Amino acid sequence: MGFFDTEKGIDEYVKMAEGFDGAELIKTLQKFVPEKFSVLELGMGPGKDLNILSKIYAVTGSDNSQIFLDRYKKQNPDADLLKLDAVTLSTDRTFDCIYSNKVLHHLTTGNMKTSLKKQKEILNPNGILFHSFWRGNKTETMEGLLFVYYELEILKSIFESDFKILELKIYTEDQKDDSIYAVLRKK
Ligand SMILES: C[S@@+](CC[C@H](N)C(=O)[O-])C[C@H]1O[C@@H](n2cnc3c(N)ncnc32)[C@H](O)[C@@H]1O
Repeated sequence: MGFFDTEKGIDEYVKMAEGFDGAELIKTLQKFVPEKFSVLELGMGPGKDLNILSKIYAVTGSDNSQIFLDRYKKQNPDADLLKLDAVTLSTDRTFDCIYSNKVLHHLTTGNMKTSLKKQKEILNPNGILFHSFWRGNKTETMEGLLFVYYELEILKSIFESDFKILELKIYTEDQKDDSIYAVLRKK
């Protein structure tokens, strides 16, 4: 049972993430993905970003934690949600864009590479990926959760075989220059 599979863990996360959302990242996303296009969010958590995305795009939220999905569905009965693991992404559906905000760092680097291959398969032609990461060069486990930090060069080497890198930039979420976002187009 992982941190995000218990009500207690999720309550802790929601409290910790107060005051943070992906509003600025989504403004950047809008430079690359036109309104009304279909967007799949991976690891939607409490759904703050999904709420913003849903005002602009045809959104599908997903997470591998049933508790997050159930909580969001209770507040938003019409929401289109899928229970998806970010590594296997077992769905027959395809999307114009796949978005995540601070999710893929919970996967091992090997699993992230598997996820990217699968994401490529479920992207429509010319589809866009938008993902954010914590910046650094360490791996740690906190409360049983894996955190893999990445520097620009490493991410570049992971992405460039399957994707054209449109933007790969450092930004600040909590501490100065602590984060990186990537905008990638399917090759
Ligand atoms: C740090 S939270 C980010 C949540 C949300 N994006 C936000 O900004 O509030 C990480 C999220 O990723 C989800 N997650 C972690 N590993 C996952 C996996 N393998 N597949 C799908 N979701 C995963 C967790 O359940 C959690 O909702």
